[in-house]
Amino acid sequence: MNQITSFEQYKKEYVRSVQQSETFWSEVAESFLWRKKWDKVLDWNFTEPKVKWFDGAQCNITENCLDRHLETRGNQIAIIWEPNNPNENFRTLTYRELHTEICRFANALKNLGVNRGDRVCIYLPMVPEAAVAMLACARIGAVHSVVFAGFSSSSLADRINDSACKILLTADAVYRGEKEIDLKKIADDAMLQTPSIEKCIVLNHRNSAVEMKTGRDIFWNDALENISNGNEAESMNAEDPLFILYTSGSTGKPKGVLHTTAGYMVYSAYTFLNVFNYKEKEIFFCTADVGWVTGHSYIVYGPLLNGATTVMFEGVPTHPDHGKFWDIIDKHSVNIFYTAPTAIRSLQTYGEEIFKTKNLSSLRVLGTVGEPINEEAWHWYHKNVGKENCDIVDTWWQTETGGVLISPIANVTPLKPAFATLPLPGVQPVLLNEKGEEIEGNNVEGNLCIKFPWPGMARTLYGAHERFRQTYFSNYHGYYFTGDGCRRDENGYYRITGRVDDVINVSGHRIGTGEVEDAIDVHEHVIETAVVGFPHDIKGQGIYAFVICGKKIENEEALRNEIKKHVTERIGAFARPDKIQIVSGLPKTRSGKIMRRILRKIAEGDTSNLGDTTTLLDPSVVEQIKAGAL
Ligand code: PRX
Repeated sequence: MNQITSFEQYKKEYVRSVQQSETFWSEVAESFLWRKKWDKVLDWNFTEPKVKWFDGAQCNITENCLDRHLETRGNQIAIIWEPNNPNENFRTLTYRELHTEICRFANALKNLGVNRGDRVCIYLPMVPEAAVAMLACARIGAVHSVVFAGFSSSSLADRINDSACKILLTADAVYRGEKEIDLKKIADDAMLQTPSIEKCIVLNHRNSAVEMKTGRDIFWNDALENISNGNEAESMNAEDPLFILYTSGSTGKPKGVLHTTAGYMVYSAYTFLNVFNYKEKEIFFCTADVGWVTGHSYIVYGPLLNGATTVMFEGVPTHPDHGKFWDIIDKHSVNIFYTAPTAIRSLQTYGEEIFKTKNLSSLRVLGTVGEPINEEAWHWYHKNVGKENCDIVDTWWQTETGGVLISPIANVTPLKPAFATLPLPGVQPVLLNEKGEEIEGNNVEGNLCIKFPWPGMARTLYGAHERFRQTYFSNYHGYYFTGDGCRRDENGYYRITGRVDDVINVSGHRIGTGEVEDAIDVHEHVIETAVVGFPHDIKGQGIYAFVICGKKIENEEALRNEIKKHVTERIGAFARPDKIQIVSGLPKTRSGKIMRRILRKIAEGDTSNLGDTTTLLDPSVVEQIKAGAL
């Protein structure tokens, strides 16, 4: 694959990738292992929408992640696993070992009746088996749907049901810092409402006692008994589904973003190589969870496609103390470190003393993802972690984009703190105004859209193509709408300013306000809820809920705690509101629409200028809410 090594080369490649897009991507794709080459590089329109890359080609992504490396790097470590518990040993898997594990597990899945095209739900902690499970699915052509192990039983059930998964893979327990959580029990609760699940494979991770349902549940090791190592990978069509990953949108129901085989493979590999300027044999540590897209593309697929060594960390950055990330970097001589701004901001609060005892000299490149990074955190990261020697790549992308779209290329693009800088080759961003017109020139701001397909883009929402069209392709005809606002500075550098829809970003977790509202509305005393985000020093955004109750509440604190519990049960602890204000009414227009703009201002603590409130049904409501603001 073509690696970009100078800014001049980037500029040339970029122009070429726009002017001769198909030639550009077919050249990138040449370096992969294909069972059959494509008939057509690209077939697309953004109206239906329809996007097909490398149509007619056949391949298996796991042969590209594993088999083709065996001869040259069979004994090289593919995965380093760092446990949550500092007293436990780390584990490693070489490319050869990983290949064997995947082939065996692929056979075990087949043995349990999983066929090409079947959906498999993966609800596991951050353990190598999560990667093994994903790749075993891909090996036999089953579609994986990983659900972050912090989601509640009802969220898990919703996701299983939406794509009618046949098998659920889970573990006895999961660590969250010092707490051990009974994952199998949560899975059991979910499986009370998931008729499509035929089998549940349970990894014995913590040796915790679990209840096993006869005929349905089977331990991981038992599923592997008498299973052979030999596995012939399925030959997949380029546009066969590879995985579904649920993400949040403006409305309550999560969206099953669907990625297909060849385009995702080419794009995740190309972006890993170039964004991080990856060099042979380097150790790459991405702190995300495999339950999110960052874990898919840059813990599993991107690194393995490039033959890199990828670090998987089970725990949290502050356990046993706030030096955990730096210990891992020091211990394994990590060269590239990729994390979220929230983690940086939270570690920043502990000060710099900790760095005196850690050797971070192996680091060459740093990255951030998931939310805007503020300049202060950028400089702190650059100085204390990178010792002013490492480029920081601020990578902007989304679950739907499959891989990074706008980012510096490490050691190539001149950096600007807090700017995602420039589009990668093949990516054509535009800023649109409210009328849907492209805003030309620099020093401008607008809604970020992409006007041409790239191989890693989502093809549909599982079972909901019309919703896919409406969500991303109907606001602006002929464009993919990202949902983000964006500024382009005087040099053409992009800075993402945040979501312009009803999605909030809490600690890099994307949460739909509608989802939280639905979860709160379930409470028996709650009549209606409006949720907005507000700026939060560590988390980027916090969650502020305005709640109307049906009766006089004697103990508001108790109600708040109950509401938080409801949200934990319906979604997960990460979506719990930070502030809950009980109000007598919400600012609604005469047509009944909640004016969130006003609520956002109040949540931000900026009530000096709330704009025009005359169109409200009852403007006095605003004064009452202001008076009780938290
Ligand atoms: O608002 C943008 C923000 O995260 C959203 C995508 O969230 P998700 O699909 O969960 O994927 C996160 C990991 C790729 C975007 O719409 N976002 C992501 N990266 C950045 C960002 N905002 C600013 N700067 C970034 N680098």
